[in-house]
Amino acid sequence: MIGTDLELAGRLLEAGQLVAIPTETVYGLAGNAFDTAAVLRIFEAKNRPYFNPLIVHTWSMEEITNIAAAFPSVLQDIASKYWPGPLTVLLPKAEKIHDLITAGSDYVAVRIPDNSMSLKLMSGLNFPLCAPSANPFGYISPTTALHVEAQLGDRIAYILDGGPCRVGVESTIIRLNENDEIEILRNGAIGGHDIELITGRRPLMHTVSQQPMAPGMLKNHYAPSINLLLAQNNAELLSLIQKFKDRRIAVLSFDTLFTHDAIVDQIVLSETGDCNIAARHLFSAMHKLDAGNADIILAVRVPDKGIGKAINDRLLRASMKEV
Ligand code: TXA
Ligand code: MG
Repeated sequence: MIGTDLELAGRLLEAGQLVAIPTETVYGLAGNAFDTAAVLRIFEAKNRPYFNPLIVHTWSMEEITNIAAAFPSVLQDIASKYWPGPLTVLLPKAEKIHDLITAGSDYVAVRIPDNSMSLKLMSGLNFPLCAPSANPFGYISPTTALHVEAQLGDRIAYILDGGPCRVGVESTIIRLNENDEIEILRNGAIGGHDIELITGRRPLMHTVSQQPMAPGMLKNHYAPSINLLLAQNNAELLSLIQKFKDRRIAVLSFDTLFTHDAIVDQIVLSETGDCNIAARHLFSAMHKLDAGNADIILAVRVPDKGIGKAINDRLLRASMKEV
């Protein structure tokens, strides 16, 4: 059920049920972080493997002491600047945080999201919320309540509708590595440059490995159910259209409208070439094209700076689905 009843959402969470909550990035599938049965329910509802840890969400910096055992000052500086906002920080976990949440790691991911409804909801609860993106594992993340309803509606008690997500791609994840260097584990709206502005230190980019630190880093993730091919630029996109002209093509373009008889569906992410707008529309566009009558999606990379890096990262992973 979709609605805006904060009291109902709170009661359901207190009873160990799952509630989808709006955030500025994507919708989250929330459960009581201090209730192991509720945490297990999250994994089940998403069909998510247990090796993929969950982000713990809260509403104020003071609450972090219930979640983390320490908060290194450089990470605190960054968090105080960007929270509430699209940033997740890895911190040594507090004893109360169950191993299920961290997939056995001594570090817990923490975030204060920037959505007034969810902040209000959490401020009335006496526990933080585990909330992965509210999509089945590996599929496109939801940026509207209707996306959640379509994908997981029958598995969750309530969907709190906060309208479409303002940012549209998941939070930037950072940590301090063994050498005390700042590392970005997942690209999001907050980039290396933003972090450097505050700390004077340029963060390292943690690259995809066989055993990903953050499974948002898994090769095939955020994927539609039909094949998506990613072109480097518009010229390459044109030649892909030519190559697949016998198929029913959907085009996911950045700022240019393409014309060809084989194109049955097309979405331009931002006519003005604005990456922030493109990010906001990205997952909605993927949902729409996936549900249309095309049998292949041809997409193109966006300018690789700022949030554009996060868009390119999600497009690349969506294109790596093995079908
Ligand atoms: O914007 C967001 O972060 C959204 C909204 C709902 O807050 N949440 C989100 O959650 O994207 P999820 O579960 O889809 O992605 C969380 C990522 C995963 O790649 C996970 O592996 C990583 O965070 N992560 C969580 N806890 C971790 C930990 N203890 N150590 C390393 N990575 C962690
Ligand atoms: Mg996710």
